[in-house]
Amino acid sequence: MKDTHHDATGLERILTLELARVTEAAAIAAYEQVGRGNEHDADQAAVDAMRTALNLCNFEGTVVIGEGERDEAPMLFIGEKVGTGKGPKVDIALDPLEGTTLTAKAMANALAVVAIAEGGSLLHAPDTYMDKIAIGGGYPEGIVDLDADPRDNIKALAKAKGVPVREITACILDRPRHADLIAKVREAGASIRLISDGDIAGVIHCSDPDTGIDIYLGQGGAPEGVLAAAALRCVGGQIQTRLVFRNDDERTRAHRIGITDLNRKYKTMDLASGDVMFAATGVTDGSMLEGIHKVGNFMTSHTIVMRSKTRTVRWIKARHVIKGS
Ligand code: FBP
Repeated sequence: MKDTHHDATGLERILTLELARVTEAAAIAAYEQVGRGNEHDADQAAVDAMRTALNLCNFEGTVVIGEGERDEAPMLFIGEKVGTGKGPKVDIALDPLEGTTLTAKAMANALAVVAIAEGGSLLHAPDTYMDKIAIGGGYPEGIVDLDADPRDNIKALAKAKGVPVREITACILDRPRHADLIAKVREAGASIRLISDGDIAGVIHCSDPDTGIDIYLGQGGAPEGVLAAAALRCVGGQIQTRLVFRNDDERTRAHRIGITDLNRKYKTMDLASGDVMFAATGVTDGSMLEGIHKVGNFMTSHTIVMRSKTRTVRWIKARHVIKGS
């Protein structure tokens, strides 16, 4: 009989459901903090719940994208070992609460996010900024380029898509640092969807024609860049990035985790290679997923789980009994 739980190579596919449990747990914990104005407590609740759930998973996991370095993050720090220790060796990238401000202010689009990959296949990125450009699947490699003028990227994408430039929509984080970028994209003739936070979803949106977003541009967190690349490996699309260092401390951090070429351009496969799984659960309602809802004695969650090997994408709606009810 065919063994449906194990592949000849790569991650055990049964782990996809385990991953859904991990982000569900973090999102449910963060839900209690929605609209309470406390970013720290919201993040902490998600971190605690995600760590507990990860430790029930049958793998030998190492956190490579986590809450920070060991001296600054007591839980889910970079290098922390998680899981039961039984099963495959995996790298883990996590963001227990993507959108701490969104949660604290009860705004749309907060998510709990995790990715796992075969050991050694996720970039160990420092907690710095990262320049990013991403587009969806179906285009030749390099049709847009991180180092090209944004106006040329927009025009090249419109040409490849076979539409006038005014039909291109770019997604950009609404930050003063992006004033010049925004002006150039508008000058090219494209429309811009400005987002207040959450560039993992911003990048993933490029792969979903229903969102109307064609390209993601701008500077966000480096950890979020690795997580977004892991997702693109599953849904299709390309991302190019470069780490951005604001001071010597950040450069030292990068050196400490083995990055020698500080100016390197990282493409999708440099950020996340091998067999990758990605999961996200909505905390608040958003453009990618519905958030946690309380209905009577239950909470409902909406999760997306996907895997690079098969490129299957699953949406899991779950009902959870509220403890003590
Ligand atoms: P947090 O949940 O850690 O606050 O991250 C939210 C986020 O919007 C990310 O999606 C994005 O990569 C980063 O912050 C951008 O950083 P900044 O808010 O400093 O511009």
